[in-house]
Amino acid sequence: MNDLKQTIATLRSSFIQALEQVGTLQELEHVRIAFLGRQGQLASIMSCMKNLSLEEKKLCGPLLNELKQTSEQLFNVKKEALEQQNRQQELKKKQFFDVTAYRAEPFKGGLHLYSHIIQELEDIFISMGYQVVDGPEIETSFYNFEALNIPQDHPARDMQDTFWLTLPGYLMRTQTSNVQIRTLEKQRPPVAIISAGRVYRNEATDASHDFMFTQLECLVVDKTISLSNLLGTTQTFLQRVFGNEKLKIRARPGYFPFVEPGIEIDASCLFCTDGCSICKRTTWIELLGAGLVHPNVLRACGVDPQEFSGFAFGMGIERLAMLKHGITDIRLFHGNSLSFLRQF
Ligand code: PHE
Repeated sequence: MNDLKQTIATLRSSFIQALEQVGTLQELEHVRIAFLGRQGQLASIMSCMKNLSLEEKKLCGPLLNELKQTSEQLFNVKKEALEQQNRQQELKKKQFFDVTAYRAEPFKGGLHLYSHIIQELEDIFISMGYQVVDGPEIETSFYNFEALNIPQDHPARDMQDTFWLTLPGYLMRTQTSNVQIRTLEKQRPPVAIISAGRVYRNEATDASHDFMFTQLECLVVDKTISLSNLLGTTQTFLQRVFGNEKLKIRARPGYFPFVEPGIEIDASCLFCTDGCSICKRTTWIELLGAGLVHPNVLRACGVDPQEFSGFAFGMGIERLAMLKHGITDIRLFHGNSLSFLRQF
């Protein structure tokens, strides 16, 4: 009996001591399980009660109940204190959070200017019912020249202009017009496509010329396609690209072997009405090579020129982007300068 009393007293003091050493809620939980849990020390003493006589039960029962109550109270007090301590620590962290402190923003990747402008152009043409197609950059001379009615002795074939590959007959395309042939070979008219992609020219570079640049090609073939379709389409799309409904266009005669008649299309200057350095004081900006598809080209693709006619145009995408964003050097496009690219 005295043993039991002694055990109760020891349990009380070791519980109090354990509580004092606890520093975190997690440690407190371990102490609770060890002392107050279902298989803890208090429960095991309680289970010894059934072996006692009535007299002994009367004496020890209240002692055990009192121990249970006080240890639960002490436990709750400790728990509350630890929770309070946690809350204060959280608050402290927040209090010392300096909202004005400079934190370097990690650079988020983004689309290249090329992707932006090409997507914009594609959206405009898709909304007009066009299909977007792709073509190879490594091409045979047939698709880049012969099928486009470019004769053997045409200056564009010169070693100066074309990057020929060591593989005989293969070259880096000098224009996206190869897509005209590749499309008409596969698709019967009516055809309305655009194609954006890289082209290569073996020439000296300067602020407005590069050995590699990007073109947008457009081809429409159907019955009764005329120059007015070409002019209407061009004006509409340029007005949309530059967000300027007042933009006008003009056509001048131009020579491209794969169109007849061939024209060059200029847009009214976006920056002045009476001549500036960008339009070289002419109030017009040269933008596109265009024309009605040459009957020889239609024939080379097995399309009857008596039944069908078409228009085509080609345009430098960099030039468009340069005018739109005030970029002064074409070489910046693939110069990998992050300070340039991050602006778009
Ligand atoms: N391919 C021509 C060039 O690169 C542009 C063009 C395309 C002209 C289609 C007429 C028709 O200069």
